[in-house]
Amino acid sequence: MFDARPIGVFDSGVGGLTVLHECLVNLPAEDFIYLGDTGFFPYGSRTLEEVRALAFRNASFLVEQGVKLIIVACNSAAAAALPQLQAAFDTPIVGVVMPGARAAVQETRSRRVGLMATVATVRSESYQQALLSLDAGVEVFPVECPRLAPLIQGGDVFSEEVEEAVREYVGPLKASEVDTVILGCTHYPLITPMLRRLLGPQVSLVNSAEEIAREVGETLERKGVGNKEGREGDYRFYSTGDPEAFRSVGARFLQLPIREVLLWEAGAEVAASLGQHV
Ligand code: DGL
Repeated sequence: MFDARPIGVFDSGVGGLTVLHECLVNLPAEDFIYLGDTGFFPYGSRTLEEVRALAFRNASFLVEQGVKLIIVACNSAAAAALPQLQAAFDTPIVGVVMPGARAAVQETRSRRVGLMATVATVRSESYQQALLSLDAGVEVFPVECPRLAPLIQGGDVFSEEVEEAVREYVGPLKASEVDTVILGCTHYPLITPMLRRLLGPQVSLVNSAEEIAREVGETLERKGVGNKEGREGDYRFYSTGDPEAFRSVGARFLQLPIREVLLWEAGAEVAASLGQHV
């Protein structure tokens, strides 16, 4: 028995391609449909209500495509809306927060865990709650990193500007003597070497993209909805912003070829309801 339907993935833009990368590498037989909401990036500086509205319209779009499972690859969206999405849709939905929190609790020895994430993710307190639900004795040190995702997406990942921002954000984590740091944003795996150097080798980094890929694999197996073993899966893309820009910026995140990107022009109603933020 196998289930040939694709898996849907959505993100605020190209960052979730780090999640898709892990899924493509670890689950090569599966087909994927990826929706990048580049027209509405970034989510991290929006209110939780706005992010929730965007997450609902993204999930509805993927359900219409006939997916068997939805991955909320975006930390800001998972933090703002995962329980509400799960309650509203029949399709199983998984998100990045809990797998990352679980890995951090397993990893830490000092039980002092740092979190680097967008403002929306930190303020939703989802990671903090997830960590405490797994180990009530853990101490969490969250740092809002508003400049990081736009800088990583927009320019040279290895620039001094990025390094300067990283140096500023890791400062409080070093002072708090955490031994584990959750990379609570899709963009941060791209700057892993810089983070390792500035945090020091004694600090473990938790990559939420790797953790969610593991969880998806387990979910498919347990539910018995994996695709036929041995086949080579396909993957395709929709974006709400310029498809060409998605393609050129996205390749750096996916590290695999990006072929056709289709424009999804929906969202005008949501755009109107989000007012000046769009
Ligand atoms: N995908 C988003 C996240 O993980 C990237 C940042 C943003 O949209 O603000 O939070």
